[in-house]
Amino acid sequence: MTKTEQMKKIRDEILNLTESPLYAYRTENKFFPVIGEGSHDSKIMFVGEAPGRNEAKTGKPFCGAAGKVLDALLAHAGIQRDSVYITNIVKDRPPENRDPTQKEIDIYGPFLDRQIEIIQPRVIAALGRYAMGYIMNKFGLIDELEPIGKAHGKSYKAKASYGDIDIVVLYHPCMAVYNPNNLGSLKKDFEVLGKYT
Ligand code: URA
Repeated sequence: MTKTEQMKKIRDEILNLTESPLYAYRTENKFFPVIGEGSHDSKIMFVGEAPGRNEAKTGKPFCGAAGKVLDALLAHAGIQRDSVYITNIVKDRPPENRDPTQKEIDIYGPFLDRQIEIIQPRVIAALGRYAMGYIMNKFGLIDELEPIGKAHGKSYKAKASYGDIDIVVLYHPCMAVYNPNNLGSLKKDFEVLGKYT
């Protein structure tokens, strides 16, 4: 199967994921699952938390207010959005933008794991504490886990099935939606990504 065919299979499985606690909410609201977007050959993969309202309405990751911030941060780091792959841990929108539950993370996490195997990124940029926790745990870095206030901007070496990777921990772009004063700190952290382009 090509990478695109493998991604379509993931999409079809998620579309029919009736066992997800978020399935009924998605279908009742005519929302879309948000699988991911971008280059399947990207060296950099961004992992967010879960879709918000705009994302669930369009099926595209980071297309609302947090997406505008992400676009500005990518531009600041000299990265073209369509050259990277952007996805989330949880593929369906939690009601009222609440935090994802552990059960939701457990249900959707294996799809993210498969996406990582398909894309085989050299760098995984974890956006926010949920992505940081999931990715660091997945790659055996649980002992190095710190609160995101300390970990943001740091890179960690890890071993994927296909080779060595770097994990970069970043604040979630919504930090600058809630408080524009945080934009400077986010920009500075995103500069680490420049060296991977
Ligand atoms: N926040 C996320 O974590 N992901 C999105 O796709 C949008 C907002």
